[in-house]
Amino acid sequence: MVLAEQGGDSPLRPPPHRRNLPRYHSHRSSSSCSCRCCWCWCCCFLLLVLVIVIAITAYISLIIKPRVPTYSVDDFSIGDLNLNPTDLTIRTKFIVTVRAKNPNDMIGIWYKNGSYVAISYRNTLLCSGCLPSFYQGHHNTTVMRVVLEGQSKLGAEVHGVLEENRRTGRIPLDVFVRVPVGLRVFNIDWRQVTVNVTCALVVDGLSPDKKVGIKSADYKVDVDL
Ligand SMILES: *[C@@H]1O[C@H](CO)[C@@H](O)[C@H](O)[C@H]1NC(C)=O
Ligand SMILES: *[C@@H]1O[C@H](CO)[C@@H](O)[C@H](O)[C@H]1NC(C)=O
Ligand SMILES: *[C@@H]1O[C@H](CO)[C@@H](O)[C@H](O)[C@H]1NC(C)=O
Repeated sequence: MVLAEQGGDSPLRPPPHRRNLPRYHSHRSSSSCSCRCCWCWCCCFLLLVLVIVIAITAYISLIIKPRVPTYSVDDFSIGDLNLNPTDLTIRTKFIVTVRAKNPNDMIGIWYKNGSYVAISYRNTLLCSGCLPSFYQGHHNTTVMRVVLEGQSKLGAEVHGVLEENRRTGRIPLDVFVRVPVGLRVFNIDWRQVTVNVTCALVVDGLSPDKKVGIKSADYKVDVDL
């Protein structure tokens, strides 16, 4: 139908030449087309992977909504504080009540065995202990009582500075916490990581008969992957 119409419109145009040219072109473009298709598939595949990764990330941040747990010290009391003035040995027992809040909807936290908590004063370790090991579920607030005990010998210089700090009511303490934690998302336990927390604490006094007031606390958190 089309051929008959063309033939009728322009009978002078040589049909073989016209037929050869498109055939030559079509032969060449078919090989470059298959190559282009290959690239096209590669691009499509990469795009698909990218879309999946973006979708998973969006899903995690939108549905799981990871949030950092919060901790606060409810109470800091002194069970025992005994400084022997003759040989400058100090025996301490601190009881720290920590309120840990897991604000997540989908993430549970395992506080595992093998944690370590230490309090030192000017590089002298005063006392140490550990955190309880437990699983903290979604939207759970747990109050943990951490007992730290120890005995050490103060250098004469450190003792002098401590007496001075006690008079001025500003005693700097270094708190170190090392705790292995695991995360549980959708009932799957993920790899365990170790969290180090160092806290520069300034307290207003250290007397067995008086409650310890915290003047300032400066936290630093490191995660060991
Ligand atoms: C952790 O400690 C608890 C109590 O001390 C014990 O029952 C449990 O078996 C320990 N878990 C591991 C993995 O050591
Ligand atoms: C929070 O978790 C702790 C430890 O698993 C558990 O003993 C406590 O009952 C939980 N609290 C609530 C309100 O579910
Ligand atoms: C955490 O503390 C331990 C013991 O002090 C140390 O060996 C480790 O390198 C620390 N990790 C980080 C990430 O600071």
